[in-house]
Amino acid sequence: MSSFEMETVISQDFMIQTARCLLRCPSAADIPSVFSATRFAGFNNGMQWEPPATIDELYEPLREQILDWEAGRTFSFTIADLSSNHLIGRIGIRKTERQNVWNLGFWTHPEHQGQGYMTESLKAVIEFGFERLGATRIDASYALWNKGSQRVLEKSGMQFIRYIPHAFQKKGQWIEANKMEITKQKWLALNCS
Ligand SMILES: CC(C)(COP(=O)(O)OP(=O)(O)OC[C@H]1O[C@@H](n2cnc3c(N)ncnc32)[C@H](O)[C@@H]1OP(=O)(O)O)[C@@H](O)C(=O)NCCC(=O)NCCS
Repeated sequence: MSSFEMETVISQDFMIQTARCLLRCPSAADIPSVFSATRFAGFNNGMQWEPPATIDELYEPLREQILDWEAGRTFSFTIADLSSNHLIGRIGIRKTERQNVWNLGFWTHPEHQGQGYMTESLKAVIEFGFERLGATRIDASYALWNKGSQRVLEKSGMQFIRYIPHAFQKKGQWIEANKMEITKQKWLALNCS
């Protein structure tokens, strides 16, 4: 690790509280809700992972999420309702190969979309990235057709940086995407005015 990079040891008890949500480490209790999200037609179309065939297939990804959290590689947060602790969605921030550049991925359970939950969570995780992980730049990509994803990224202050013609494949077809990013400098300017 370079001397310029911060240690990314975050306890598994770490949580972020927003106005309506608690962002916390995933648990096995979340699995039925994750599975139910993947049953909605088209839910996975904008993401690189495929819907599981059975609920049991979600235990291995959970184990990997915990290992990645412990290793400081990716922090996948379950977005839970503040009062019920029930899953609303997921948001992950992942270390990239570029020094101090982190990457975001996210989804909201279809039953909870369109209520501002991802906008609220994205802002909190961007702050976490800059303040706790030592990020100097945070990026995210969205499939060109995915207007909801584009909108939440724009609302969090992210700006277009690059068009990616072959971002990932779905059913054997390449999906076009745009990459967005926010720098720490821009984030500070937006949040200190
Ligand atoms: C993209 C996604 C995460 C948004 O989550 P959400 O909790 O509904 O987001 P929010 O409610 O905070 O904001 C959604 C914004 O997108 C807008 N939006 C949603 N669908 C849209 C569409 N088809 N066209 C234009 N705008 C759209 C909403 O109007 C809202 O913007 P507004 O507040 O200015 O009105 C959610 O739709 C999702 O999980 N999709 C499936 C998984 C996915 O594609 N993840 C992203 C991979 S990059």
